[in-house]
Amino acid sequence: MTDAVRDVVVVGAGGMGRAWMDVVQARDGVRPSAVVDLDVSAARRAATERGWDVPVFSDVAAALREAPADLLLNVTVPEAHRAVSDAALRAGVPVLSEKPVTPTVADAMWLSALSVSRGVLLATSQSRRHSSGISAFRDAVRDLGGAGQLETQFFQNPRFGGFRDEMPSPLLVDMAIHQFDQARFLLGSEPVSVYCEEFSPSWSWYRGAAAAQAIFRFSDGSRFGYAGSWCADGLTTSWNGSWRASAPDGSATWDGETAVRVQGQDGPERDVPMGEGSEGLDAALTEFLTALDGGEAPSGEIRSNIWSLAMVEAAGESAATGSRVDLDAVFARAGAAALAEAQATGETAIIDQLREWAGGAPR
Ligand SMILES: NC(=O)c1ccc[n+]([C@@H]2O[C@H](COP(=O)([O-])OP(=O)(O)OC[C@H]3O[C@@H](n4cnc5c(N)ncnc54)[C@H](O)[C@@H]3O)[C@@H](O)[C@H]2O)c1
Repeated sequence: MTDAVRDVVVVGAGGMGRAWMDVVQARDGVRPSAVVDLDVSAARRAATERGWDVPVFSDVAAALREAPADLLLNVTVPEAHRAVSDAALRAGVPVLSEKPVTPTVADAMWLSALSVSRGVLLATSQSRRHSSGISAFRDAVRDLGGAGQLETQFFQNPRFGGFRDEMPSPLLVDMAIHQFDQARFLLGSEPVSVYCEEFSPSWSWYRGAAAAQAIFRFSDGSRFGYAGSWCADGLTTSWNGSWRASAPDGSATWDGETAVRVQGQDGPERDVPMGEGSEGLDAALTEFLTALDGGEAPSGEIRSNIWSLAMVEAAGESAATGSRVDLDAVFARAGAAALAEAQATGETAIIDQLREWAGGAPR
């Protein structure tokens, strides 16, 4: 890593923005240069609580004009993600965004084209793919010859109150992207199609459907089954879900926290030891800084992460139509929508980039 200290602009000073500020505070090589929130008093409070002597802004464009910025953390609400990331990319500032990178695949196609055409990095932090548990589980499954069948159960019962209780599809839209992204990480393959049903158990306290079951087919022929609920009292799983993989040389399970177990055809069941290293947000930031130093692209680089978002959109479409949905069709429609928008605004570089992808996923 470079010895230079990088200036970080944090945009969004809500619950997650504060968690990111603590990550910045705790590590060498980065320092805060500004905090931005529509509610500028929230930005000031969050900075003051951490003893940060930095300017605060209500507008990201003003912050980018006035404060030094080597990278921007986009921790705003999903609806603001595209506008905030767009402003930073146009200012030449790399962006590490909270999930979902944008609310729709069409918006993510647009940002992918902007990022690639400008040569400025945009990545999503999917914190749940960074843990010693999931790494140990992935390695165990690989050692067994790779999963042909992967299953997760996600059963939780949070009483959030607020927007999640009122929104349509709270589980699929706000939470399932974590397990979908984890499945991509574990299988090392990309999804091809999905059949999904979402529904409201009679006892659900959410306005929207808080339970879903989905079957994804992946390009290596494997299947990923997802069963989830956000209104499941009792015997809850971990927030990572509870996992099982079936592979040529045996099976592996992971409780989503620390216990990874494997068993071959004849051998005894055994526990797999966990590794060590940075996890969660800190690990996502490490990947991002490594890329800024000229290293490997982060695993959440937008052209890769867009597949996790497309899984959510395809699952939602399948639930709405009752049909199996191909990811190719999701990308074709999203690419056409992004292209139409670019043509309407006359953004030549974005038009050219989207045409190069020819209606498929960004490459
Ligand atoms: N990785 C995880 O496990 C995890 C957990 C929780 C939230 N998140 C994600 O983090 C993001 C933020 O969630 P949160 O719980 O902190 O939400 P929040 O509502 O607590 O905070 C969001 C903040 O963004 C500010 N904001 C909105 N639009 C803005 C704009 N245009 N410019 C500047 N500030 C703006 C709001 O005023 C608010 O203070 C979301 O994308 C959410 O999905 C991820």
